[in-house]
Amino acid sequence: MRAVEVAGQFGLDRLRLADRPDPVPGPGEILIRVAAASLNYRDLLMVRGQYNPKQPLPLIPGSDGAARVVGLGHGVDRVREGQRVCPIFALSWLEGQPQRSTLRSTLGGPIDGTLAELMVVPAASVVVVPDHLTDEEAACLPCAGTTAWNALVTHGNVQQGDTVLLQGTGGVSLMALMLLRALGARAIVTSGSDEKLERAGQLGAWQTINYRTVPEWGRAAVELTGGEGVDVVLEVGGADTLAQSLRAVRIGGRVALIGNLSGARTEIDLIPVFMRQVRLQGVLVGSRAEFEAMNEIVSRDELRPQIDRTFDLAESRTAFEHMAAGGHLGKICIRL
Ligand SMILES: NC(=O)c1ccc[n+]([C@@H]2O[C@H](COP(=O)([O-])OP(=O)(O)OC[C@H]3O[C@@H](n4cnc5c(N)ncnc54)[C@H](OP(=O)(O)O)[C@@H]3O)[C@@H](O)[C@H]2O)c1
Repeated sequence: MRAVEVAGQFGLDRLRLADRPDPVPGPGEILIRVAAASLNYRDLLMVRGQYNPKQPLPLIPGSDGAARVVGLGHGVDRVREGQRVCPIFALSWLEGQPQRSTLRSTLGGPIDGTLAELMVVPAASVVVVPDHLTDEEAACLPCAGTTAWNALVTHGNVQQGDTVLLQGTGGVSLMALMLLRALGARAIVTSGSDEKLERAGQLGAWQTINYRTVPEWGRAAVELTGGEGVDVVLEVGGADTLAQSLRAVRIGGRVALIGNLSGARTEIDLIPVFMRQVRLQGVLVGSRAEFEAMNEIVSRDELRPQIDRTFDLAESRTAFEHMAAGGHLGKICIRL
């Protein structure tokens, strides 16, 4: 089978298309033929060696994918051949809280990921794809979608009529924008680009703010909500954005700490956190049960993830460079 791997040393220039032996499913496992994958910022960091410098190489990157079941190991009756499935991000995390071992079972590092034509995964570690989705759309769900779902629903407790601030127009934020429509909540979307903000408006954002031209965007969000502040912030920016997120959130609101696009270390003023009883909640993707709960809503409302562009497997390096350039809006997909 063909797979994209980073070999020898980390770096986008080390990505190459390789031939690997076809994997064979053991007892309780299934063989899946990957139809599409999508990139996450994590994959870019992983390939550059910035996510886990100790990750052994070669590594097949990719945490998000959609596939078809093409072989069953002994004793498997949970899925059938021909079914469309998505492997879950952390193969051992089926429900409840993550365990320490959960972190060692994630696709695209440390375990080989979705940029491969064939994969073997435990039969328990897949979720059936909603019928209305294309393979590329389904490939946006496991990591980006489940993360957005958990930040909004499991941890954010977003209710109808709530206001949620989404930072930037990348994969996680636009998955959240899609889900907010179904939850009956309104979104304030920030971006560094007016063109992207116009697109976000067309995709259902209630209000938009350019974080470059309005550096005090937290205050602007408070003004948009009549002086109260937003119910929930999905914090993907990290170091440079957390202070404004704390300004934007209402008394008793929640800030879901998801990403660190601008860095992982910062000083924060603790006073607004306790004076306004803000809850800071770290979010790590989610379990199979949470992925399935999201899929019920995705199917019910026939939601479709926003895809920026799709590349062929052989163009994977260009796809990563496209992500690194930051011009994308929504998910970047790879067709296998
Ligand atoms: N905790 C978890 O389980 C989990 C899961 C998934 C992702 N993440 C993390 O979440 C972050 C986003 O991931 P992704 O895959 O959605 O990335 P992505 O698709 O590459 O999105 C990046 C976008 O974020 C915006 N952005 C960049 N720097 C920003 C800043 N300083 N302030 C506000 N917006 C900024 C930009 O949008 P504009 O061009 O519109 O400004 C950029 O296009 C990453 O840090 C990733 O590692 C964490």
